[in-house]
Amino acid sequence: MKVGVVGLGYVGIVTAAVLADQGHQIMGVDTDKDKISRLQAGKSVIFEPGLDELISRNHQRFEFTSNYDGLGESEVIFICVSTPDRGGEINLDYVFSACESIKNVGSKATVVIKSTVIPGTARKVFGRTGIRVVSNPEFLREGSAIHDTVHPDRIVMGADEPQRLILLRNLWGFTKAPILETTNENAELIKYASNAFLATKISFINEIADLCEKIPGADVSVIAEGMGYDKRIAPEFLRAGLGFGGSCFPKDTRALITFAKENNTDIRIVESAVSVNSDRVKKAVDRIEAKFGSLKTKNICVLGLSFKNDTDDVRYSKSWELVEELNRRGGLVKAFDPTVKSAQGINVTVNPDRCIENSDFVIVATEWKEFNRLNLNTAGRVIDFRRILDKGKADMMVGVHDKN
Ligand code: UDX
Repeated sequence: MKVGVVGLGYVGIVTAAVLADQGHQIMGVDTDKDKISRLQAGKSVIFEPGLDELISRNHQRFEFTSNYDGLGESEVIFICVSTPDRGGEINLDYVFSACESIKNVGSKATVVIKSTVIPGTARKVFGRTGIRVVSNPEFLREGSAIHDTVHPDRIVMGADEPQRLILLRNLWGFTKAPILETTNENAELIKYASNAFLATKISFINEIADLCEKIPGADVSVIAEGMGYDKRIAPEFLRAGLGFGGSCFPKDTRALITFAKENNTDIRIVESAVSVNSDRVKKAVDRIEAKFGSLKTKNICVLGLSFKNDTDDVRYSKSWELVEELNRRGGLVKAFDPTVKSAQGINVTVNPDRCIENSDFVIVATEWKEFNRLNLNTAGRVIDFRRILDKGKADMMVGVHDKN
């Protein structure tokens, strides 16, 4: 099929790469000319395991352009533009303008919104442009985006009429995932409800971690394991730590809360999840100071800057927030990350061994598995806020009583 992809961020470029690998012909459109030049030159635009290989293996199936005219012949067009936060609510300007541009090239394609959009967006797009879009939310995680696109748990697609879904059913059929066909509104809300639920799960285990820290002998990882065997609960998203960051959970939870209020209802449980998440970093630093004293002029080596492992994305990163808080309290912070090599206002080092050696404190802030392979014997105190270090390596861990 001839497939257009508008917006070549995480969702767009991964969708394009996976569909190219299935034999489809891709027309990738992005208004960022610099990004288009990089893609045309075969250079990578984001760090995502396996992505560059997929793009180079299928290079003959790609065209990249910043001109919407190229979409004239596409049978299906995916809109994957960003839907950023605007004071707690979702900004749909890029979605509307992409739809306008598609309309202006006279496209007859099935237009599919993959961007995360608040319920009612498909209806609004129809009102503005006359295009009846399909809603097909994306559930991929950064760091395992290709795997998640090829092996999704489910495909959700919504439209006002079932025949609008035929092409999409064919396109995603290779995944063998269960397909839920529904209304646009349901498809749109399923994405928010899913993300908000996962974010709530994280805040829940983080509060259990706080409780464990008060109880000698308790350990949140064991509690999570014991809970996770229950199929109704499942083990995922029960890793306690500094809380959730990234481009999705913080933005989507806020947008859902605002959207609910606009509809004269409250989602108090999600409000609480956000509130718990907002003081994780401050509480973590308070705990260090309560046990080890003031951090003023202490050399601190922070391991991790990305918002989670296997990505170079630092948007709403809790590790970044931690570095800022430590600096505010007078700590002399250096940070190391396997992918992030510079960060505004942060002293970033490329030499973790020297950073560890010269430190009073080493703090694990992002769940990169490779931090476990670093030699921490030369460090001062070791603090594991992501529970990835082997037993016995840390002097303080999230979710464990300090005297354990
Ligand atoms: C998320 C959703 O998982 C995905 O379905 C959606 O499409 C986009 O948003 P992503 O933002 O890539 O994906 O990251 P995710 O793996 O969900 O992690 C989000 C944050 O939660 C990270 O900061 C991570 O460190 C934190 N997290 C995750 C925990 O603190 N504990 C956990 O158990 C899991």
